[in-house]
Amino acid sequence: MYICSSCQYGSKIKVGKCPSCGSFGTFVEAQDTLSSWSKWSKISKLTKAPDHHHTHRDAYPFTNTEVRGVIGDAMIADGFYLLAGEPGIGKSTFALQIVHDLLRSTPDLRWGYFSGEETATQVMARYTRLYPDHGQADDFFYTTSFESIKDAVQTYGYQFIIVDSIQTIMSQSYDGSPGSAGQVRTCAELLNDLAKENHVTIVVIGHVTKGGEIAGPKYLEHIVDVVLYVEWDRTGDLRFLRNYKNRFGHADGTGIFGMTAKGLQPVYDPEKLFAWQIAWPGIAWTIGLDNGRPVIVWIEALLTKSYGKFPDRHYVGVNWKRVDMIIAILEKYLSCKLAAFNIFINIPGEFHLHDSGLDLAIAMAIYSAYKNNTLPTKTIWIGELGLTGRISATRSHEKRSSESPKSRSIVDYKTHNDITLLV
Ligand code: TYD
Ligand code: MG
Repeated sequence: MYICSSCQYGSKIKVGKCPSCGSFGTFVEAQDTLSSWSKWSKISKLTKAPDHHHTHRDAYPFTNTEVRGVIGDAMIADGFYLLAGEPGIGKSTFALQIVHDLLRSTPDLRWGYFSGEETATQVMARYTRLYPDHGQADDFFYTTSFESIKDAVQTYGYQFIIVDSIQTIMSQSYDGSPGSAGQVRTCAELLNDLAKENHVTIVVIGHVTKGGEIAGPKYLEHIVDVVLYVEWDRTGDLRFLRNYKNRFGHADGTGIFGMTAKGLQPVYDPEKLFAWQIAWPGIAWTIGLDNGRPVIVWIEALLTKSYGKFPDRHYVGVNWKRVDMIIAILEKYLSCKLAAFNIFINIPGEFHLHDSGLDLAIAMAIYSAYKNNTLPTKTIWIGELGLTGRISATRSHEKRSSESPKSRSIVDYKTHNDITLLV
């Protein structure tokens, strides 16, 4: 039996490319790896679900609403959480932020931070600088050994630990260097057992390269209970915390934070980010869905005269196929002569919103730029456009509409069902 070390796909023959996850050269013989062996031996023992009154889960509540919107109301006492993201994006800072938040509701929480990346002194200094109000905390360790983490958990009775990062730790039970697919997989399984058997919440940090190609991240996602990603697009100080998997509840939130000198600060009101924006031709407000969460944004359109044979089209943060379609709709039904113009579309604020609910706002932004007229600044445009010019409801329409500030009025399929009625 051969197993893909990246996704655990099993095959009777050794194949070059994994048919399941597409990785190359990742197949290893099953009996060579401890984890596959321990996996089979686990499967051979059937476990009965505990009695109902034992299934109640202890949890440590969050106080911060921005964190709560993404991770849920609380952290589960034997939960295994993955906090993933590119190097330098703010994972370690975020982990400390989580601790800070939990301590506000559970001040006597016994917690420890195990780092194989930075020294214990460095992490402790950062914690003390960011959260001086918590007083002295000294349960910071530098280690790269799973066994020493397990010892510490059992010796000090930690209820919550951070392991920074999965790529730097190794277990004696597996013969492979830290960060290798087998070592990552082994440590992930051992940490999961540690969480469940010792009733300890574990947040494990995982690096993801630009291509997402680090040993075992996909397998890690399978094994943990909750997958959180810290993301940005390298142009600003905003960080998005997203939940991609959640065995304990919903998994569709996005938290918005700003990276400041005082760590990550929640941005409670993203509209404020745009507050300086003044009325201008080519600007239309809308409410998009960012990983399921409604966000208020504006669309910018700029038209410049085209001198070439073909006009330029540059779109940032939006679905270019939909924009091409919207241009065709404007040409057909509103008689806009757009072939004579280069068209630039942008959503400020680092958002990438590829949903069809933005259609109407994109159309109105282009139309406003084309006519060189300002749209009413207090109007929010929500809706999908059909090829007949019809305006229709969009995914989570009510959820979006309810996000609209009271001071604004909404134009959607309820007020106008056809784009020709808007001009
Ligand atoms: P870090 O949490 O170390 O990232 P990761 O663990 O994902 O590698 O934070 C990375 C960057 O964040 C660091 O280069 C500087 C910046 N930063 C701030 O701007 N303010 C702060 O208070 C902190 C702690 C970090
Ligand atoms: Mg770090």
